[in-house]
Amino acid sequence: MTLRAVDIIQRKRDGAELGVDEIRFFIDGYASGAVPDYQAAALAMAVFFRGMTAAEIGALCESMMRTGEVLDLSDLPGPKVDKHSTGGVGDKTSLILAPLAAACGVYVPMISGRGLGHTGGTLDKLESIPGFQVRLSLSEFRRVLRSTGLGLIGQTPEIAPADRKLYALRDVTSTVESLPLIAASIMSKKMAEGLDALVLDVKVGDGAFLTKYEDSKALAQTMVSIGRGMGKKVAALLTGMDQPLGRTVGNALEVVESIETLKGRGPRDLESLSLELTAWMLSLAGASPSLEAARGQAREALRSGAGLRKLQEVIEAQGGDPRVCDDTGLLPRARETVELRADADGRVTAIRCRAVGHAGMLLGAGRETLDSRIDPAVGIVLSKKVGDLVVQGEPLLTVHVDDRGRLDDALAILREAVAIGPEAPPAVPLVREVIA
Ligand code: URA
Repeated sequence: MTLRAVDIIQRKRDGAELGVDEIRFFIDGYASGAVPDYQAAALAMAVFFRGMTAAEIGALCESMMRTGEVLDLSDLPGPKVDKHSTGGVGDKTSLILAPLAAACGVYVPMISGRGLGHTGGTLDKLESIPGFQVRLSLSEFRRVLRSTGLGLIGQTPEIAPADRKLYALRDVTSTVESLPLIAASIMSKKMAEGLDALVLDVKVGDGAFLTKYEDSKALAQTMVSIGRGMGKKVAALLTGMDQPLGRTVGNALEVVESIETLKGRGPRDLESLSLELTAWMLSLAGASPSLEAARGQAREALRSGAGLRKLQEVIEAQGGDPRVCDDTGLLPRARETVELRADADGRVTAIRCRAVGHAGMLLGAGRETLDSRIDPAVGIVLSKKVGDLVVQGEPLLTVHVDDRGRLDDALAILREAVAIGPEAPPAVPLVREVIA
């Protein structure tokens, strides 16, 4: 029987399970232009409401991956491993763990994304380093990877082009927050990287994409099973995004904090999550006999400065100014800073992550729409974290600003975002659960 896009949309609309051939037909057609945007939007909305079975999600992922190139990195003499985060606020672990893992002898071919809405993106952070190129061709990417052990680029037109198109369409048709679509989208890119192993950092809490714990957990389980179904070693860590990670939010500010962390002077939460994710990468890739041994290796790469040197190497290899690792004053800096002070004594009981990310976006650290321009220098530096003691009049945070246009709106959001009460909330571990 001849397949038609309209029948496939109708079947999904009515709750049927689509076959592999139907999904492949639809996605190939979308990539080639034979299936127009309006039909893809209709299917995305049908999936949003009807969901997909594990078999359908696997087929969707594989079909999107196969519309592009699947890297073959088997010529590199070592395991290939990456980490992917579902996105958060102040989440700069990629800048720390990729060099740490590479310093421990694995290859890290990292293809990252940009920030959108309240979340930040690795590419935007890297581009705040003067000269750093995230748009490498696949052959340049291979060259950097071979010479330094890691490469940090954006999704090229050759990688999962159907996902690239569909993601942009979902963004404007309110179909982003769909578990099957998120899982297939993320994994279609990651499985094209030619990896042996993948660690997923699935965020939970107020700053996460899917805010309900059970939804994040189901997303993690789905992505782990897609990856395993494709013969890869995959584990997911569910980690807290209830307050920003570390103390900085904003591109250049986050690069400074990452460099400080690689010098052993980072905030505890950021350092410990970066080390734990590195350890999982090493252990899944088989570069360590056990997770405990991998933790030791990761700590040693940090202590010895090997991770920092790797970061410096990759910055140079990708056209950036490697001197930023010695002198962070070379990174863009905002024209002025404004402090937000506590209006009461007590303990910080919450720093609402989504609101902080939103304030950062208003300052210019993030995008409101896909083509908004980022200001690399602006952002927020937290002086206090949840549980800290505060005295009235003490600074809670500092805003780094270039354009005062939306400063008042950002400050109003930030004032609401930080809650002060009589008692510190119970401490919760950053890693809530591991699916391995
Ligand atoms: N990141 C992706 O790559 N795709 C999604 O759908 C959501 C987050």
